[in-house]
Amino acid sequence: MDATLAEILASAWALLVRAAADPRHPGRIVQLATAGRDGAPRLRSVVLRGVDPVARVLCLHTDRRSAKVAEIAAEPRVALLAWDPRARMQLRLAGAAAVLTDGPVWRTAWEATPIGSRADYAQADPPGTLAAVPPGEPTHPQPMQNFAVILLTIDRLDWLRLAPGAHRRAGFAWDSGAVQGSWLVP
Ligand SMILES: Cc1cc2nc3c(=O)[nH]c(=O)nc-3n(C[C@H](O)[C@H](O)[C@H](O)COP(=O)(O)O)c2cc1C
Repeated sequence: MDATLAEILASAWALLVRAAADPRHPGRIVQLATAGRDGAPRLRSVVLRGVDPVARVLCLHTDRRSAKVAEIAAEPRVALLAWDPRARMQLRLAGAAAVLTDGPVWRTAWEATPIGSRADYAQADPPGTLAAVPPGEPTHPQPMQNFAVILLTIDRLDWLRLAPGAHRRAGFAWDSGAVQGSWLVP
């Protein structure tokens, strides 16, 4: 028997929560799409760091000097794709992104970042800078200054589950906090 739309939505959020909490979960690496400054799409993999299903907020970490941060500043509407091969579930989410570069949420996230991972923010030059040779050891004296948290508030979720002969798809949209769900042709 088919799950109800409410059960499907709960399972989608549960998958995201598990993926964010488990470093070995295949759904932990998600793809974030932004609009480039020229209007063309830009896409990259990022680690899903946290999920709050009640607030509908996803948390990502990045380098504040990266292209995606400037793109979000110009156009906060973004999309995110998650795929769990075990559940054969694809989630396509859309919403508005906000970039934090100070404040208590940002500070807590930095303090929880393992020392080894802090090196990701310690390159002297911004990500994407042309380099004559592969960059050496990170030398930025204050990697914390480069650290940014992206909070993504979801207002649309497209759920697709693949099953032999019985693919299922549903769409959910939030308007003023109320959710509207519908079955969709896969
Ligand atoms: C498996 C994987 C995980 C990644 N996780 C992150 C991440 O959490 N944050 C991030 O900023 N970049 C992450 N990256 C690097 C991005 O995909 C991208 O190359 C980088 O952020 C620069 O993107 P931009 O120039 O579009 O801003 C990851 C790449 C891979 C392959």
